[in-house]
Amino acid sequence: MTSREDPGPAFRRMREADLPRVMEIERAAFSHPWSEEMVRRELGHEFSTVLLATEGSEGAVQGFAVVWLVHDELHVLNVAVAPGARRRGLARAILDRVEGQGREQGARVAMLEVRRGNGPAIALYRSRGYREVGIRPRYYAEDGEDALVMDKDL
Ligand SMILES: CC(C)(COP(=O)(O)OP(=O)(O)OC[C@H]1O[C@@H](n2cnc3c(N)ncnc32)[C@H](O)[C@@H]1OP(=O)(O)O)[C@@H](O)C(=O)NCCC(=O)NCCS
Repeated sequence: MTSREDPGPAFRRMREADLPRVMEIERAAFSHPWSEEMVRRELGHEFSTVLLATEGSEGAVQGFAVVWLVHDELHVLNVAVAPGARRRGLARAILDRVEGQGREQGARVAMLEVRRGNGPAIALYRSRGYREVGIRPRYYAEDGEDALVMDKDL
């Protein structure tokens, strides 16, 4: 429930100036994080959105998602929440927001790949209605882990 003390997250698109904080969250979240250059490149693609979640409208960035809108498909490339802000519903709120925006822009399905061993992320996606529709063997080149392919009708 949203109380007077906790207005819930606010959302805005990432700007270049957000790179240091986004990289801090990215590096804390993944054993094989995206490079700064990879994240910066997203800002230049008109089909890509990096959506940030902040604590209130002026607060610190606590999580983000990277999504691509390709025809009627919303591709969820990355979701990460700062360690100190987890299990408070932030990833759920970020997913709801990017899916809603995607739907408004014509997306009919959301798709993603997730490491087969990433229990928290798989639990998150299942809880938001994503189904497991396939496996990409040894998808992650860094260590050969399989990817689970999940999708959700929007
Ligand atoms: C996965 C991640 C984004 C979840 O962020 P979060 O803000 O803590 O998630 P939420 O609080 O919105 O959780 C929503 C639901 O997801 C599931 N979930 C989230 N974290 C979980 C965990 N550690 N263990 C089990 N289930 C979990 C639960 O069903 C949870 O609902 P509940 O808290 O009511 O039980 C976060 O743990 C993270 O940044 N991990 C590292 C990066 C990563 O793996 N990203 C996904 C890459 S595909």
